[in-house]
Amino acid sequence: MTIPPPLGLLAELTHRCPLHCPYCSNPIELVTRANEMTTEQWISVLTQARDLGVLQVHMSGGEPLARHDLPALVAHASDLGCYVNLVTSGLGLTEERLTDLAGRGLAHVQLSVQGADAAMANRIAGVRAHHHKLAAAAVVKRLDLPLTVNVVLHRANHHQVGALIELAEQMGADRLELANTQYYGWGLRNRDALMPTADQLAAAEPVVRAATERLRDKMLIVYVVSDYYSEYPKPCMYGWGSRQLTVAPNGDVLPCPAASAIATLKLDNVLSTALSDIWYRSESFNAYRGTDWMPEPCRGCARKEVDFGGCRCQAFLLTGDAAATDPVCTKSPARGIVDRILAETTPSEFVMRVSR
Ligand code: SF4
Ligand code: FES
Repeated sequence: MTIPPPLGLLAELTHRCPLHCPYCSNPIELVTRANEMTTEQWISVLTQARDLGVLQVHMSGGEPLARHDLPALVAHASDLGCYVNLVTSGLGLTEERLTDLAGRGLAHVQLSVQGADAAMANRIAGVRAHHHKLAAAAVVKRLDLPLTVNVVLHRANHHQVGALIELAEQMGADRLELANTQYYGWGLRNRDALMPTADQLAAAEPVVRAATERLRDKMLIVYVVSDYYSEYPKPCMYGWGSRQLTVAPNGDVLPCPAASAIATLKLDNVLSTALSDIWYRSESFNAYRGTDWMPEPCRGCARKEVDFGGCRCQAFLLTGDAAATDPVCTKSPARGIVDRILAETTPSEFVMRVSR
C-alpha cells in the first residue's frame, strides 16, 4: 500500500499543566520536566516534520505556555510554512505573550473550558481557572486570531451544554468542540464518575441541533457523543498512521495521542530514529495501517474504510488486544463489555488529576 505523508503534527511540548482535570487523557505516568526534549531537539523535530510533509502543527501538552522556548518553536514552525495552532488552558496567556506569539506566526488558538460558570469550571479544573479563560478569550479576540473553544463533556457538566454554547458565543469563538470524554490515561480511572447517562445525551441532542442551526453562519459546532452509546465506533485518527503523528515531551513518536496505552506497542523515539523512518517504516505506525490487519467482522464489513475498525487504544484497553474490532461496534463479539460497563456504571466522585 502507498503510505501518504502526514498532514499534522501534535507536538506535546510538556506534560506540565496547571489544571487537574479528572478526564485528562494523558498517561498516568507523565514525562517529567527533566526528561523533556530541549529546544534544539524540538527544532529538529519540527524541521523533520515539515520535510515529511506536515503543514499543521498543534503545540500542545500539558500546557505549552509552561515552556519558555514556546516563542522560538512557534517562530520556527511558522518560518517553515506551517499553520501553527496553540492548544492551551489559557492560564498564562497574557496580552503581551500572545502579541509576541502572533508576531512570530501563531495562527490559531484552541482554548479549553471546563464548565459554563466559575463554580463548575473551577471544580472540574481543580483550580480557580475560569476567570483566566475568559480573559484569555478576550485577548485572542482583541488580537483578531481565530478561536476554537474545546469542552470535554461528562456526567458533571453535560446538563450545561446550552449554557456552554452561549458562553462560547460570548467569547467570540469561531468554532466550538463539545466532545464527550474519551476514556484513556487518567480519564479511564474516572470512567464511572464521568460517563454521562442516556437521559443526559437525549436532553443535549435537540439543544445542540437547534444551536448548530441558529449559529450556522457564526460559529461551527462540532459535537462528539459518547461512543459507548453509539452503534458504530468513531473513525479514530481517520485510520491509524494515515494523517497525523504525535511527538510526546520525551521524543516518543505515537501514531495517536493515546497510543502509549497499548502496552504491546513498541514505540520509537525521535532522538534515536529519524521521523521519516518512524512514519514510513516503524513497527508501531505500520501495525494497524490500512485494512490488511483487520480481523472479522471488520475484514468483510462495508464500513471498514469508513471507521477503520474503530479505535486501537480502546480495543486494547477493553479487550487486551489492540487488533480486535473496537468493542463499541455492535457487530463486535466483545460489545457485551461495553454494554456491561453502561449497565453497571455507578455514579461516584471523580479523582482529580495529579502528576504522580
Ligand atoms: Fe467498523 Fe469493524 Fe464494526 Fe464494520 S465491523 S462497523 S468496520 S468496527
Ligand atoms: Fe488511539 Fe483511537 S485513541 S487509536
